[in-house]
Amino acid sequence: TTNNFILTEQIEKVLLITLNKPKALNSLCSGLVSEVLCALKAADSNPAIGSIVLTGSQKAFAAGADIKEMETRDFSSVAKDNFLMNWEDVALIRKPIIAAVNGYALGGGCELAMMCDIIIAGDKAQFGQPEIKLGTIPGGGGTQRLIRAIGKSRAMELILTGDFITAQEAKERGLVSRIEPADKLVEEAVKMAKKIAGFSQPVVALAKECVNAAYENTLKSGLLYEKRVFHSTFALEDRKEGMNAFSQRRQAEFKDR
Ligand code: HXC
Repeated sequence: TTNNFILTEQIEKVLLITLNKPKALNSLCSGLVSEVLCALKAADSNPAIGSIVLTGSQKAFAAGADIKEMETRDFSSVAKDNFLMNWEDVALIRKPIIAAVNGYALGGGCELAMMCDIIIAGDKAQFGQPEIKLGTIPGGGGTQRLIRAIGKSRAMELILTGDFITAQEAKERGLVSRIEPADKLVEEAVKMAKKIAGFSQPVVALAKECVNAAYENTLKSGLLYEKRVFHSTFALEDRKEGMNAFSQRRQAEFKDR
């Protein structure tokens, strides 16, 4: 299949997806989003891929949903289509996704980054939810995930004013895990992704699932869920191999079993 809006490249066990719609700052039209979802789902079921990096350009990760595509829609049509509900499929991918954000991550762009598991930012990155300026509100999880990432007060301020935050502030507040020089960002993201892809795939998937459960569960049910999943890793050959390798002072060789 040929893509019109994204580039994909496999680097060892890492799939690198680059949003590639430079004329409109990677605005997330339906064609682009379906190509991203298609690539993610294929990677999720491909045993040769262990982790995924999602990036844009140096100027923009993504400047939001495609405003020109939304401009003429009316309520009955968006309600009938459950407009943009399919974006949430990104959060259902079981393999880790690292968002490498350079430049603008605005509106749906910020929301797409937040659906990923780790965000790392270039030093010139900017994050914001400017939907209020368009007479609408965040629709891709911004009102839910941004609060969990940076706290209610600052998230409320960004969502109500449409102001942007810098990579530096995003890091201080925990929205992003680290900042890299813009021109080194993708390389660093791929390095991190390779490290993750070197571990046991079923164990990585279980770890991701448990961390995500903390988003949704109470502490009590989350702790029980984690314990049960932890116990279940003892059914894996990779768990035995990891601990044997430690005792024998050698590198573990995981077989994804
Ligand atoms: C469609 C967009 C776009 C967008 C930029 N472009 N953002 N097209 N949808 N979201 C287009 C511009 O129209 C322009 O095309 C080209 O990209 C370059 O943009 P400029 O504005 O000329 O660049 P610049 O002056 O550098 O400003 C950059 C910017 C600005 C600050 C990022 O483009 C901007 O404010 N964009 C909109 C950001 C936004 O409101 N995002 C939220 C969207 S709503 P032409 O053809 O004129 O050259 C949303 C809802 C999410 O995301 C729901 C999710 C489920």
